[in-house]
Amino acid sequence: MSLKDICKVINFKDFGDERGKLVVVEGDQSIPFKIERVFYIYDSDSEVVRGQHANRESEFVLINVAGKSKVRITDGSEELIINLDKPMMGVYIPKMIWKDMYDFSKDSVLLVLASTHYDSSEYIRNYDEYLKLISEKGNKQ
Ligand code: TYD
Repeated sequence: MSLKDICKVINFKDFGDERGKLVVVEGDQSIPFKIERVFYIYDSDSEVVRGQHANRESEFVLINVAGKSKVRITDGSEELIINLDKPMMGVYIPKMIWKDMYDFSKDSVLLVLASTHYDSSEYIRNYDEYLKLISEKGNKQ
């Protein structure tokens, strides 16, 4: 399966009317996991690269609820860049995918929905270690 099929872009239902817009995201419905944690990233300037890790256990959905950013994702062989530039779209990132978020606009508010509570020990922050783990996993299959 290609990375595009694994890390799906999700278009949320947008309840717009003359009063404005409203977007709903429901765990286990519009996204494929129960939401255990929410955090958001703002005030990162355009030179900054965040993320730079993969997670052994956590799945995420990233939504730029204001402004814009980009996320580069890779599984160690394929790479995909997704423009997060609409509050009604998100990208699903499963376990063991490496991600870098960058190109933040001044007004960017990047909302992250996560399937787990925070546990720093499930983060893989070294890219060489990530590649090693991925290849070990591939060899086992
Ligand atoms: P970090 O993982 O470096 O952020 P990013 O993925 O955006 O580059 O996290 C920054 C700091 O915040 C770090 O000290 C850990 C802390 N943190 C939590 O305590 N809980 C969380 O859920 C997250 C995502 C980070």
